[in-house]
Amino acid sequence: MAVVAEAEVEEVTNRQVILKRYVSGCPTVDDMEVVAGAVRLAVPPGSPAVLVKNLYLSCDPYMRTRMTRHSEHSNFVPDYVPGKQVLDNCSVCKVVVSGHPDFKPGDLLWGVTGWEEYSLIPNPMFCHRINHHEFPLSYYTGVLGVPGLTAYAGLFEVAKAKKGEHVFVSAAAGAVGQIVGQLAKLTGCYVVGSAGSDQKVNLLKTKFGFDDAFNYKKELDLNAALKRLRRTNQGQSFCFQFLLYAHEDESIVYMNHHQPWIIIMNY
Ligand SMILES: NC(=O)c1ccc[n+]([C@@H]2O[C@H](COP(=O)([O-])OP(=O)(O)OC[C@H]3O[C@@H](n4cnc5c(N)ncnc54)[C@H](OP(=O)(O)O)[C@@H]3O)[C@@H](O)[C@H]2O)c1
Repeated sequence: MAVVAEAEVEEVTNRQVILKRYVSGCPTVDDMEVVAGAVRLAVPPGSPAVLVKNLYLSCDPYMRTRMTRHSEHSNFVPDYVPGKQVLDNCSVCKVVVSGHPDFKPGDLLWGVTGWEEYSLIPNPMFCHRINHHEFPLSYYTGVLGVPGLTAYAGLFEVAKAKKGEHVFVSAAAGAVGQIVGQLAKLTGCYVVGSAGSDQKVNLLKTKFGFDDAFNYKKELDLNAALKRLRRTNQGQSFCFQFLLYAHEDESIVYMNHHQPWIIIMNY
């Protein structure tokens, strides 16, 4: 890596999004603030850090959890610190300066950075180089990023879903759910999804290729819905269930009474 004299290091403006206060209910733009900071285009000498320019930022549901104050250890990721901490999440970015042997300036990465123009990543262990430039870069915040990995790992590593099996997906029109459904269909499963509007249900059936879908706000008896939509000649069944979302309790009850449904909780 070329050594740049301290006096020659360029400093640029770095706009950042911070949380103003802890949130109750649905977050709004008033809960956040854009602040103008500055960043030196350098990494600490001898460190494995990388300085990146963020190109695409993702906004995911788990960020909402971090916007509420929790008692110690009651959340699986630390709460944001209002007033100073930049919101962070997955992004697609370009390396500007690197102290890491695996990354060089110009490399495109996906991983965890901040909601800011530039991020200094002290240890880029959660960054991955993008080697397939034939896809739109934004896909690395979706189907080729964490939502896609979550769907893939849940369906194939945890459930080990196979051709001919049943898969029920809740929050099926969401970022993860729609990929679970499509992967399951590609595998030859019989796939049923639930969503909270007729428009989403239509999307599941006409665009994402689900075999069937229902609006859980209209069809309140989940047991009846799953019983109606199940095909008796199908093999083992999986429920790709998003924890804390609609009909969590009912589907657990249903699974208990209608073996062999296997429930996969996605937190
Ligand atoms: N995105 C990721 O990379 C990732 C990774 C690991 C885990 N997860 C977890 O997987 C779950 C789904 O994530 P996602 O990214 O697919 O989410 P998403 O795209 O935001 O979809 C979430 C959907 O959940 C439904 N929902 C039901 N009850 C809700 C409520 N009280 N508030 C808000 N939405 C509600 C809504 O659809 P309806 O209108 O159909 O109800 C909503 O569109 C979350 O628990 C998340 O923490 C996500």
